[in-house]
Parts: sequence; C-alpha cells; structure tokens
Amino acid sequence: MNTIASGKSPNAVFMGGRDKPGHDGLEGEVMSDIHPPLRSYGRLKTRTIKPRQAALVENLLPSLRPPAGPFDPRALKSDATEVWLEIGFGGGEHMAAQAALRPDILVIGAEPFQNGVASALRHIDEAGLTNVRVHDGDARDLMARLPDASLDRTFILFPDPWPKARHNKRRLVQAETVAELARVLKPGGRLRFASDWADYVDWSLERFLKGAAFRWTAEDAADWRVPPADHITTRYEEKRLGDCVPVFLDFVRT
Ligand SMILES: C[S@@+](CC[C@H](N)C(=O)[O-])C[C@H]1O[C@@H](n2cnc3c(N)ncnc32)[C@H](O)[C@@H]1O
Repeated sequence: MNTIASGKSPNAVFMGGRDKPGHDGLEGEVMSDIHPPLRSYGRLKTRTIKPRQAALVENLLPSLRPPAGPFDPRALKSDATEVWLEIGFGGGEHMAAQAALRPDILVIGAEPFQNGVASALRHIDEAGLTNVRVHDGDARDLMARLPDASLDRTFILFPDPWPKARHNKRRLVQAETVAELARVLKPGGRLRFASDWADYVDWSLERFLKGAAFRWTAEDAADWRVPPADHITTRYEEKRLGDCVPVFLDFVRT
C-alpha cells in the first residue's frame, strides 16, 4: 500500500522499518543480483540539439567534465565549502538554480541524456556559473570514481519511475546504489529523494531505511508532502506525470 504518498497513516516502514531489516520486498535483493547495474534511463537523445547548445557541448562541456579515473571532488574547486551531487538533472534547471543560489558550493551533476546535458549547459552559460561540473553519463560510474565520504549532499529528484513491475529492477534506487550513496556521503551529509510515483516513494523509503546508513528526517506529514523551502521546481516536475502529488524524502547520512 502506498501509504506515504497517499497521505494515509504511516506504513510499516515508517513505524519500524529501521528495526526490522529484511522485510517483504527486499528479500533476495543482494548486490550480485543487480550487478552490473541495468540501464536506468531512457533514450540518450530525443531530438536534434540546437546549434547554440551543440556549440556549448563542443566548447564548454569538456572544461566542465570531472577528470577521468578516480578523483577527489574537493580538488575541483578548492575554496568550495561543500560538494553536492545531483543525479539525473534532466534539463539542469534545479542544478543551475541551486548553484546560482550557493556560489560557495561546488555542484556536480550527472546525466546521460544528451538533450538534457545540452540544456543544462545553456543554463550554466547564461548564468555564468563557475561552480558546476557535469558528468555526461551514468551517475553510478561517476560515484565509483569518488573517494569515501567526499560529498556533502545528493539530490535524486523525480527519477525515471519504471512503474511496471517487470521494469522495477531498472530503478536507480536499488540496494547497490543506496550502499554507494552511503559510501560517498559524509557522516551528516544530506540526501533528497523526490517522486510523484507512490510506489517508487515507498520502494525508496524502504531501501534507504533498510540499513542504518540513512536516517529519515521527517517528523510529520508536512515534511514529505510540502516541498522543502530550498526546493526548486523544474518543468518536468510541473508536468505531474506520476500517480500522486510530489513527495519529498530528506535523509541524513548517519
Ligand atoms: C524523469 S527525469 C527527471 C529530471 C530532473 N531530475 C527533474 O526533476 O526535472 C530523470 C532523469 O534521470 C536520468 N537518469 C536516469 N538514470 C540515471 C543514471 N543512472 N545516472 C544519471 N542520470 C540518470 C534520466 O536520463 C532523466 O533525465
């Protein structure tokens, strides 16, 4: 039952999931079952990229890509007070807006969808942002190159829902991704997940709370039903393509 998203009484996960690991739905989901990760995104390109954006892909993107191989994100901008990662930034509106609001922070975005990357580059260019780096590929490949405890904050906003049961295994939030996020986030680091698909909200809550690595900060329903004060709505979110109102889950790395 999709109780969190539908606003009914808290479900078993909310009431006691942290003390009851291994409850229904997670049995058998071990890393070996889901490795290597399945593709969690749709098409890489849906339409021709406009000439101006294509020029940014050619000229700006190479300077924004993190180095190949393992790297310490803190070295990319040594005066940054924090390093944030946005996974699946889509058209880059949220990433660019957060970076503009917080010039003291380095924001790294990961997105394999080429039209999205091109759009993000336009936002970065127009706003003259110098505190954004772009990995034009799978976030899981990027995270694998990061040292332990090297991120202060991560966003997973409205990830592809893969609502059909047979496609659920393509969802980005899997035990393996949660473990990797726990590895790269600092203790006390923050993670925000948002979705307007009720089943994906419950799915994610269950997986983030299965171990002891993440603590859900919600104290009452307003904490997941009301967009957080620092949230920036994207055109994708506004389409309301899901089956429930947007739900926001904020976690802290323990
Ligand atoms: C439904 S869109 C939402 C975009 C954006 N977060 C927003 O709210 O407007 C989800 C995005 O996640 C991206 N995505 C899916 N799997 C990914 C992965 N493994 N790494 C990085 N991005 C991924 C997709 O390409 C897609 O652009």
